[in-house]
Amino acid sequence: MKKRIGLAQVGIGYWGKNLLRNFAALDGVDLIMACDQREGVLSAVADQFPYAQTTSIYRDLLDSTDVDAIVIATETPQHAPLAKMALEAGKHVFVEKPMAQTTDDARELVRLSEEKNLRLMVGHLLLYHPAFRYVEDLAKSGELGDVYYLYSQRVNLGIVRDKENAFESLAPHDLSVALQLIDAKPVAVSASGQAYLRPGVQDVVFATVYFEGGKMANLHTSWLDPHKIRKVTVVGSRKMAVIDDVAASEKVRLYDKGVDVSKADYADYVEAMTLRSGDIHIPKINMTEPLRMECEHFIDCIRTGDTPRSDGRNGLAVVEMMEAAGVSLANGGAQVPV
Ligand SMILES: NC(=O)c1ccc[n+]([C@@H]2O[C@H](COP(=O)([O-])OP(=O)(O)OC[C@H]3O[C@@H](n4cnc5c(N)ncnc54)[C@H](O)[C@@H]3O)[C@@H](O)[C@H]2O)c1
Repeated sequence: MKKRIGLAQVGIGYWGKNLLRNFAALDGVDLIMACDQREGVLSAVADQFPYAQTTSIYRDLLDSTDVDAIVIATETPQHAPLAKMALEAGKHVFVEKPMAQTTDDARELVRLSEEKNLRLMVGHLLLYHPAFRYVEDLAKSGELGDVYYLYSQRVNLGIVRDKENAFESLAPHDLSVALQLIDAKPVAVSASGQAYLRPGVQDVVFATVYFEGGKMANLHTSWLDPHKIRKVTVVGSRKMAVIDDVAASEKVRLYDKGVDVSKADYADYVEAMTLRSGDIHIPKINMTEPLRMECEHFIDCIRTGDTPRSDGRNGLAVVEMMEAAGVSLANGGAQVPV
């Protein structure tokens, strides 16, 4: 029989509602407590989940012996302090992205979770998205060849945040994907952007992550844009893939395109380049709600003791790139080592 997991969540705002709904629906999960600072939110939760306790005091979650795991979906600056308190109280932690705002805080969370043998998982949702999993499998199996570079666009006329800029809010997703698809270590980041709506909070950021061996990931993030685009283009030596998450179906297109280079005459160093423009393949992908898969994975890892796909170390790697991007933003787009 599956061990039942007692779960509590702090932060039931726009995104937290989705997490709560998914976790509460999982087999073998008991929703023990929900915490938010807003009274109206708590009464709505009490209506929807009458069996769960509601509180505005985070300490109640830490002190409850029925709570095995805490889900943190507050605004970003709260992530690290609340996650640290939860780990210190002996709870497994699911924390929304980004895991922390500084690498020091992220490292401390990793250290604590490993020392206490607790699961620490970050909400890098795309790592649970069937379309991204499909392309990741292609990259890892060698089907794309050597992945040279990728670029992503995550833009919209969307939620304008004040406690984090557009890059901090949107880029963790694409950074976590870049780490999976590019088989090399990130070495530097350059980022430039502008704050048009609020002083000091960039609404649009263009960033490039440089990896060992000359590989690159370029990210365009913005909440001030007429288009709604969530697209990643991956260019490999054999094939190229495009993941379009806004498309209702046909989320992945695989292009048999590339340039084959062969040394025709070694003596003269004459290189022959042949353009290859073959078929475009649209694979059938069985779409399951990525958020449901993410929530299930966290609970499974608690039960089995397995390391989550988006564990604390994965969260730390993303925060390292974000911190470097922040320094670069403040220094006119200079390349900053990761
Ligand atoms: N994975 C994704 O695709 C995705 C999408 C959207 C947002 N997010 C992340 O989810 C997090 C929350 O975003 P949101 O849009 O839901 O924000 P939000 O402002 O709508 O909700 C945050 C909630 O947390 C509550 N809160 C804050 N501090 C608290 C505290 N100390 N104790 C109790 N309650 C507290 C607030 O009252 C609010 O209801 C952010 O970190 C964001 O990056 C992730």
